[in-house]
Amino acid sequence: MGKNLVFVPEWHSTNSLAMDLGQRETAGDGTVVITDNQHSGRGQRGSRWVSEPGKNLTFSVVLKPNLRPDQLFIIAQTIALGVADYVKTKTSGVKIKWPNDILVFDKKVCGILIESSLAGPVVQFVVAGIGLNVNQTEFDNPRATSLKTVTGNEFILNDELNGLLHALEVRYLQWREGFALTLRQDYHQFLYRAHEKREFKTNTHTFTGSIEQVDDQGRLAINTTQGIKLFEVKEIAFADWA
Ligand code: BTN
Repeated sequence: MGKNLVFVPEWHSTNSLAMDLGQRETAGDGTVVITDNQHSGRGQRGSRWVSEPGKNLTFSVVLKPNLRPDQLFIIAQTIALGVADYVKTKTSGVKIKWPNDILVFDKKVCGILIESSLAGPVVQFVVAGIGLNVNQTEFDNPRATSLKTVTGNEFILNDELNGLLHALEVRYLQWREGFALTLRQDYHQFLYRAHEKREFKTNTHTFTGSIEQVDDQGRLAINTTQGIKLFEVKEIAFADWA
């Protein structure tokens, strides 16, 4: 990963650029698109990803796995695990908040945006956009943090990029070599608030339940008073998270 690396000093969104480049043969599996200054970063559920220029890692990886669209969640899982493994080399308290936010002690250090291009019944390519807060220490969102905030250390971005890309590659190769079950188990080891009684909210109501697991399609299985219920990403959130 990153053998083919496209650097742009500034750009609106590396995911948008990677979605354009992904169409080309020259953008092989593992191509990385990175910028120092992303001014209109995109987040999950149509949100914005704001990152102070020159302080953090904002990049996207083009992946060309051989997959059907209904198997895409394994890629989200693989990428989240790679990031979690890497963050764990810096600090304890690392969790994956379903589906793929990386937390350190209950605060978000990294956001991941997975997008894909489909060609009929197959996935043409996937773009995994990663926003890792590294040296930024002031955030508008009280739920945000960075590696510097949690460790007290200032990091050299290029070194951290290399470490992170290596961790991502290890997990991606693990998937390519057929170890999807290991990935699934390891993802659950990192899963935030698994098997804890918690308040959840949907568009219409709040309820108490505990996370049982995440299924292969990426749905969250929650044990409720009415039995196990499955939820898609847009349908549910923890009641105490925005
Ligand atoms: C989220 O948690 O909402 C996902 C945030 C993803 C942000 C990254 S930064 C690099 C890449 N380019 C984007 O426009 N978004 C992703």
